Amino acid sequence: MNIDNKKLIYEGKAKKIFANKNPEEVIVQFKDDATAFNAAKKSTFEGKGELNCFISETIFKYLINQNIPTHYIRSNSKSSFIAQKVKIIPLEVVVRNTAYGSICNQTNIEPGTVLKEPLIDFYYKDDNLNDPLLTIDRIILMDIISQEELLFIKELTKKINSILMVFFSNIQINLVDFKVEYGRNQNGQVVLADEFSPDNCRLWDMKANNGKIESLDKDRFRHDLGDLIEAYSEISNRIKIFISST
Ligand code: TMP
Ligand code: ASP
Repeated sequence: MNIDNKKLIYEGKAKKIFANKNPEEVIVQFKDDATAFNAAKKSTFEGKGELNCFISETIFKYLINQNIPTHYIRSNSKSSFIAQKVKIIPLEVVVRNTAYGSICNQTNIEPGTVLKEPLIDFYYKDDNLNDPLLTIDRIILMDIISQEELLFIKELTKKINSILMVFFSNIQINLVDFKVEYGRNQNGQVVLADEFSPDNCRLWDMKANNGKIESLDKDRFRHDLGDLIEAYSEISNRIKIFISST
């Protein structure tokens, strides 16, 4: 399918969304671009789009098999897949299993602390406001979603976390934290949307030596920790080996 003839509906920092012939579907295309710190830092990595597309598709298919509703429909090309057309709910839902990143800058929790329970944080998806941390009451006050839907999203996110903690530990990866987004499809159903790739999570290699943290995710780009494509390829290769053995 030639994507050049397709109508661009939306362009984000790491993906483009095109209209498909079927009005209930869209084409999600992954770009090679990487941004960090609200796009203050930018670069391009050849092959990132294809790697993130493969990783995202594999994870969506895995979650669908475990009865998690997602927008994913079918594959399309090496760097794109077909998804349900959804209206994105403007919340960045972050799950933290181990404390790292912003939570350590904002609290007295030491980096690397394993949390007793996964922590779910909600941020307002608005680049102009720099994606601020929200409270449950603020979400209701802002009329972003209802209390029932918020509870549904929280429970679904916890379920996704439990499934993916096991998935990643099977490939010797510690799922430290991740960000997901939800959308409302044409039937009004809330489904997991956007992507699930090393751009949006922290993945630490459990094979790393001497207790040293070895990041296999976008922290490599954020903090100049090494070759990004090498890390994403490592994740992709381990996933390929794991799914071919199951
Ligand atoms: P944080 O420690 O910066 O709050 O990030 C928590 C997780 O969310 C981490 O896995 C990176 C991911 N994340 C995004 O996917 N997009 C963002 O804009 C930010 C700030 C974090
Ligand atoms: N996604 C955000 C940005 O592009 C921030 C991040 O992931 O660090 O700027």
